[in-house]
Amino acid sequence: MALALVILLVSITCTVFAQDPIVKITETVPPIVDKWVNAMQTDDVTFSCQVENLPVGLKVKWKRDYYDEKNRKQTQAISTDTSLMDNTRYGIEKPFPFVWRLRVRRVVAADQANYSCQVMVTLQTFVTKTVNLRVNVKPYLLPDSTSSDMTVTAGEDITLRCNGTGLPAPVIEWTRLGNALLPVGTERYQGVELKLQQVRASAAGVYNCRVWNTVGKVVRSIDLKIKYKPVIKAASEISQAPGYLIELQCFSKAYPFPTKTTWTKGSYAISTSSGRYKVHAVQGAFGQLTYELIINGVQEEDYGKWTCKIKNTEGTASKDIELKKTDVAQKSFKVGRVVKGSASRSTVYLMTLVTCLQAYVLTQL
Ligand SMILES: *[C@@H]1O[C@H](CO)[C@@H](O)[C@H](O)[C@H]1NC(C)=O
Ligand SMILES: *[C@@H]1O[C@H](CO)[C@@H](O)[C@H](O)[C@H]1NC(C)=O
Repeated sequence: MALALVILLVSITCTVFAQDPIVKITETVPPIVDKWVNAMQTDDVTFSCQVENLPVGLKVKWKRDYYDEKNRKQTQAISTDTSLMDNTRYGIEKPFPFVWRLRVRRVVAADQANYSCQVMVTLQTFVTKTVNLRVNVKPYLLPDSTSSDMTVTAGEDITLRCNGTGLPAPVIEWTRLGNALLPVGTERYQGVELKLQQVRASAAGVYNCRVWNTVGKVVRSIDLKIKYKPVIKAASEISQAPGYLIELQCFSKAYPFPTKTTWTKGSYAISTSSGRYKVHAVQGAFGQLTYELIINGVQEEDYGKWTCKIKNTEGTASKDIELKKTDVAQKSFKVGRVVKGSASRSTVYLMTLVTCLQAYVLTQL
């Protein structure tokens, strides 16, 4: 009976000694969500490993598995019991006798790895528990590969660049102000480079590139200015009866702003107001410019072909308007009724005032 008891006790004791250690990850900061610990760059993270039934003489180790820059799997030892390979990056805390808490200080992208708490029982047998750390970094722009505001010439091939980085790797998406179509033909485009071939004036404006990932976003606005020589639209002919007021109008677009405009008829050129001729320019919306020659009382010599000529740094454009003679007086475009021309100073002055007022109202619309 006594022998049987001894055998039983010995066998129980042996069973206890032979039992494998039990390794558990009891707590992580930040907590595990969907098998991952997600930390922001510069956070401290901790992983608590609790070990039961640790055989005498065996040590608890922390190690990590990660992919290096060349995407090769690497294993790195971090600690054995409380001694560390690198105590600037890591710490081992002992909040309880059977807990080995690993602290990774101020995490950076390179700390993204699988961390394992391990007890080696024999060379072949070890008990391990692993925790996966993902480091998140808000996206930021890489200034060397991101364009700033640009001024180019129509017809050039250009590339707008916007590159950013972050963790997870960010999406880079282009749009135009007001969701106008991109020159690639869609409202949105994903990629580092937005190539614009033979840019046209209509491609000018603000381009926004949004760099975003699961933890943040950053936006860069690039104002693209396109230089082109003036483009002019005008009625090819208008008519007026002698003695009445008429406006010759050239509607133009240009960038940069025109430096010179001239009205010519044969060898006669007008670039500033004089006598019954008044020259006038109104700036409208969308870079539209209206150039006018107001003839305050058409005379015989005014009939025929007039040319408006508009010049900027990119070139000169011109358009012809034929002023024809009629018997019936025509309405002034701007006043909206027939206006009898008058050389009298007060009428010219009044007309100028009306025109200026209208110009002012137009620009305010
Ligand atoms: C880390 O664990 C994840 C999920 O189990 C796995 O997909 C990945 O390959 C592991 N990384 C390394 C470096 O072992
Ligand atoms: C954008 O930046 C990333 C991260 O630095 C880099 O790997 C990639 O080659 C860059 N892409 C381009 C097109 O410059």
